[in-house]
Amino acid sequence: MNTPNSANHPANSSADTPATPSVNTSDTTAGSSAAAPAAAPVSPETQAALASTAHAPNSPGATHIRSFVHRRGHITQGQLAALERLMGEWSIPYAPRRLDPAAAFGRQAPTVLEIGFGMGETTEKIALARPDDNFLGVEVFNAGVGSLLRRIEDSKIQNLRIIQHDAVEVVRDMIAPDSLAGVHVYFPDPWPKKRHHKRRLLQPAFVSLLASRIAPGGYIHCATDWEDYAVQMLEVLSGEPLLANTADGYAPRPDYRPLTKFETRGLRLGHGVWDLIFKRVA
Ligand SMILES: C[S@@+](CC[C@H](N)C(=O)[O-])C[C@H]1O[C@@H](n2cnc3c(N)ncnc32)[C@H](O)[C@@H]1O
Repeated sequence: MNTPNSANHPANSSADTPATPSVNTSDTTAGSSAAAPAAAPVSPETQAALASTAHAPNSPGATHIRSFVHRRGHITQGQLAALERLMGEWSIPYAPRRLDPAAAFGRQAPTVLEIGFGMGETTEKIALARPDDNFLGVEVFNAGVGSLLRRIEDSKIQNLRIIQHDAVEVVRDMIAPDSLAGVHVYFPDPWPKKRHHKRRLLQPAFVSLLASRIAPGGYIHCATDWEDYAVQMLEVLSGEPLLANTADGYAPRPDYRPLTKFETRGLRLGHGVWDLIFKRVA
């Protein structure tokens, strides 16, 4: 959906060619329209992150098929500057050990994990609307992380932290069993080609891992605008013994999930959107 380079991204279209990374000086994607410095100073750490592998290949030793291909691509000066300036303040580095949410957020509160926040538009709105919950956003794209960092700063959001890493590894290594109040997965990459379906995030093994991290009574909320992925989600979520559907099939969109611009346009054109909300059973 609102992925950087979404139009020509293989996860969303039939294109197979990786996008060429670039830096744009105009910035209209984040909340603020303030002009970024023409040449934002970039530290060696940021430079290293941006210059790191554009692909996330499945190395022979990899334990799972990646649900994403590019980590970078088009990035604006504003997003780059935000990465440089705000990463240390609002992001938590990936580490193969359990995260202590109370320490990470500086308070004890229900923690909701969002996987693949894209440009962070929905994440920002939900975090502002639910100040009593902690939100942990996981995304791999530099531009998306830069965009959400800007939103955190512009909207003075306190209850949101970011981990820039593959969510499968974050959930496996950093999230304690029975600990999450909720999981949000909104418009995950549809990987429409049949031969790419294996890259879809919501597969039985990952859903089973996710379910094990949700506290009894907690929820997982997914949404998609791809009908065949909706069918797959319903099948996979229904097949997980730790989860129970809160609806008879697809759920109505709850008030806390705002309509995205893309979704509003799609609905006007008669396209469907499917929400699925399952609860973790005891
Ligand atoms: C189609 S976009 C949707 C973004 C956003 N949720 C929205 O509704 O606009 C899917 C996002 O998931 C991210 N993503 C895919 N696989 C991921 C993974 N394994 N870990 C973290 N992020 C991932 C992609 O980088 C992309 O930004």
